[in-house]
Amino acid sequence: MNPSTRGSAGQDTVASLRARLARSEREAAARQRQLEAYASDLREVFKQERARAQELRRSYKATVLALANAVEARDAYTGRHAQRVAAFGLRIAHAAGIAVDSQVEFGFLLHDVGKVGVPDAILFKPGPLTPDEYGLMSAHPTIGWEILRHVDFLDDAKIVVRHHHERWDGTGYPDRLAGEAIPVHARVFAVADALDALTTDRPYRTAVGWAEARATLREVSGTQFDPAIVSAYHTVPDEAFERISEGIA
Ligand SMILES: [Fe+2]
Repeated sequence: MNPSTRGSAGQDTVASLRARLARSEREAAARQRQLEAYASDLREVFKQERARAQELRRSYKATVLALANAVEARDAYTGRHAQRVAAFGLRIAHAAGIAVDSQVEFGFLLHDVGKVGVPDAILFKPGPLTPDEYGLMSAHPTIGWEILRHVDFLDDAKIVVRHHHERWDGTGYPDRLAGEAIPVHARVFAVADALDALTTDRPYRTAVGWAEARATLREVSGTQFDPAIVSAYHTVPDEAFERISEGIA
C-alpha cells in the first residue's frame, strides 16, 4: 500500500469513527430524553396519586366527623366534645412523643359512638346511675367496637373506642386491662377525655378551671391514668388547651 492510499484509509477510519461517535451521541441523547419523559410521567402519576390519597383522607375524615356529630347531636350538653377532646388528645400525644396517625385521630373523634346504644333516660340522667343503668352505660365502648367492627380503615380507631375507659390500675372497663397492656393511644385519650369532662359543664356538675382540672388529674395519676402520660400533659400549658377549646367552641 502506497502512502497516499494509507492516508486515505486513515481518513476513512477517522470519518467512520466520528460518524459512529455522532450516532452514539444521538442515541444517548435520545435515551436521555426518553428517561426524562419517563421521570416526568412518573412525577405526574405520583402527584395525581397524592392528590387522590388526600381526597380520600378528606372523605374519610368528613364521614367520621358526620358520624361523631350524629352521636353528639343527641348529647347536646357536651357541645363539640369529640372535636375538642380529639385536639386535646393530639396535643398530649405530641407532648409525650407518641405518634398519632389519622386512624387513631378517627378513634379519638368516634370514642363514644357506642352511646347510640344507650337509652336517653340513662345518658341524660342528672343523678347517680343504678348498678343496672351503669351496666348499660359502661357497655358503650363495646357497642362502639361492634359498630365499627367491619370498617377496615378504622382498625386502629376501634382500639381507642374499645379501651378508652380502661384504668391504669386495672379497674376500668370493658376488659379490665392494666398498665401498659392498655393500648397507648387509649391511655392518651383517657387523659384528654377527663380534661375535657372536668372543664365543661355537665348535668351533674359545673365546669372547673384549668388549674383545678390539672390538680385533679395529678391526684389520679398512677391509679386512673398512666403517670407518664399525665406527666407529658403537665408540660403543656393551660393556655394551649384554652386556645384549642376557644378555636373549636
Ligand atoms: Fe366514653
